[in-house]
Amino acid sequence: MICKRCKQRHTDNSVVVEYCEECIEDFDALSDLWLDVWKCRACPLYETANKKVVGRGFWGAKILFIGEAPGKHEDEEGEPFVGAAGRLLDVLITYAGLPDDSFFITNVLRCRPPNNRTPTEEEAKACSSFLKRTIEYVKPKIIVTLGATATKHVLSLYKREVTEKLMGKIRGKLHYLPQYVTLIPVYHPAAIIYNGKLMDVTKEDFNLIGKLYKEVA
Ligand code: URA
Repeated sequence: MICKRCKQRHTDNSVVVEYCEECIEDFDALSDLWLDVWKCRACPLYETANKKVVGRGFWGAKILFIGEAPGKHEDEEGEPFVGAAGRLLDVLITYAGLPDDSFFITNVLRCRPPNNRTPTEEEAKACSSFLKRTIEYVKPKIIVTLGATATKHVLSLYKREVTEKLMGKIRGKLHYLPQYVTLIPVYHPAAIIYNGKLMDVTKEDFNLIGKLYKEVA
């Protein structure tokens, strides 16, 4: 059979099994991650979180979108990007022509910071093992960081630094990471809601994401 996720041919000739053993292991590992997040007390944010937020989308996706942290709606529903910013993200994903099984969405943090404040370095570090494990199990080929916080934090996981502070200078520039992973920073959808002028360049960035996806799909 040819595994629906890694597209490799395997000796198992079953017509019932759609994924190979290695890919099923990643699926199981990602399911375990939910339990570990649920039990986590690595920083004080668990005390105020209503629901913890791990991710949504296809577990074997080629594209991983990484935002900052759950907001009010995400905290209520337990899913990332389900509020106004999420609706805009969904519009941009459709604009880029990305199919439903092409992406998985997660955040730097799994718990909502009070009043949606920016995550502290300590919180981001305390939560980083979950992000690293998400990257390890989903195995994306394209990472899209949404906004400056996610860009800075995710690049730091790969021992890279962003020298520019302004998203205007950072967005749309490709970073080539180990294991043929390409990272592209884009404006956070909430920033576009606040300043509609950012939409034009963001559409350019999502066009590029669509093209990159076609190369790895
Ligand atoms: N903003 C984020 O960065 N993440 C979410 O999940 C929702 C809004």
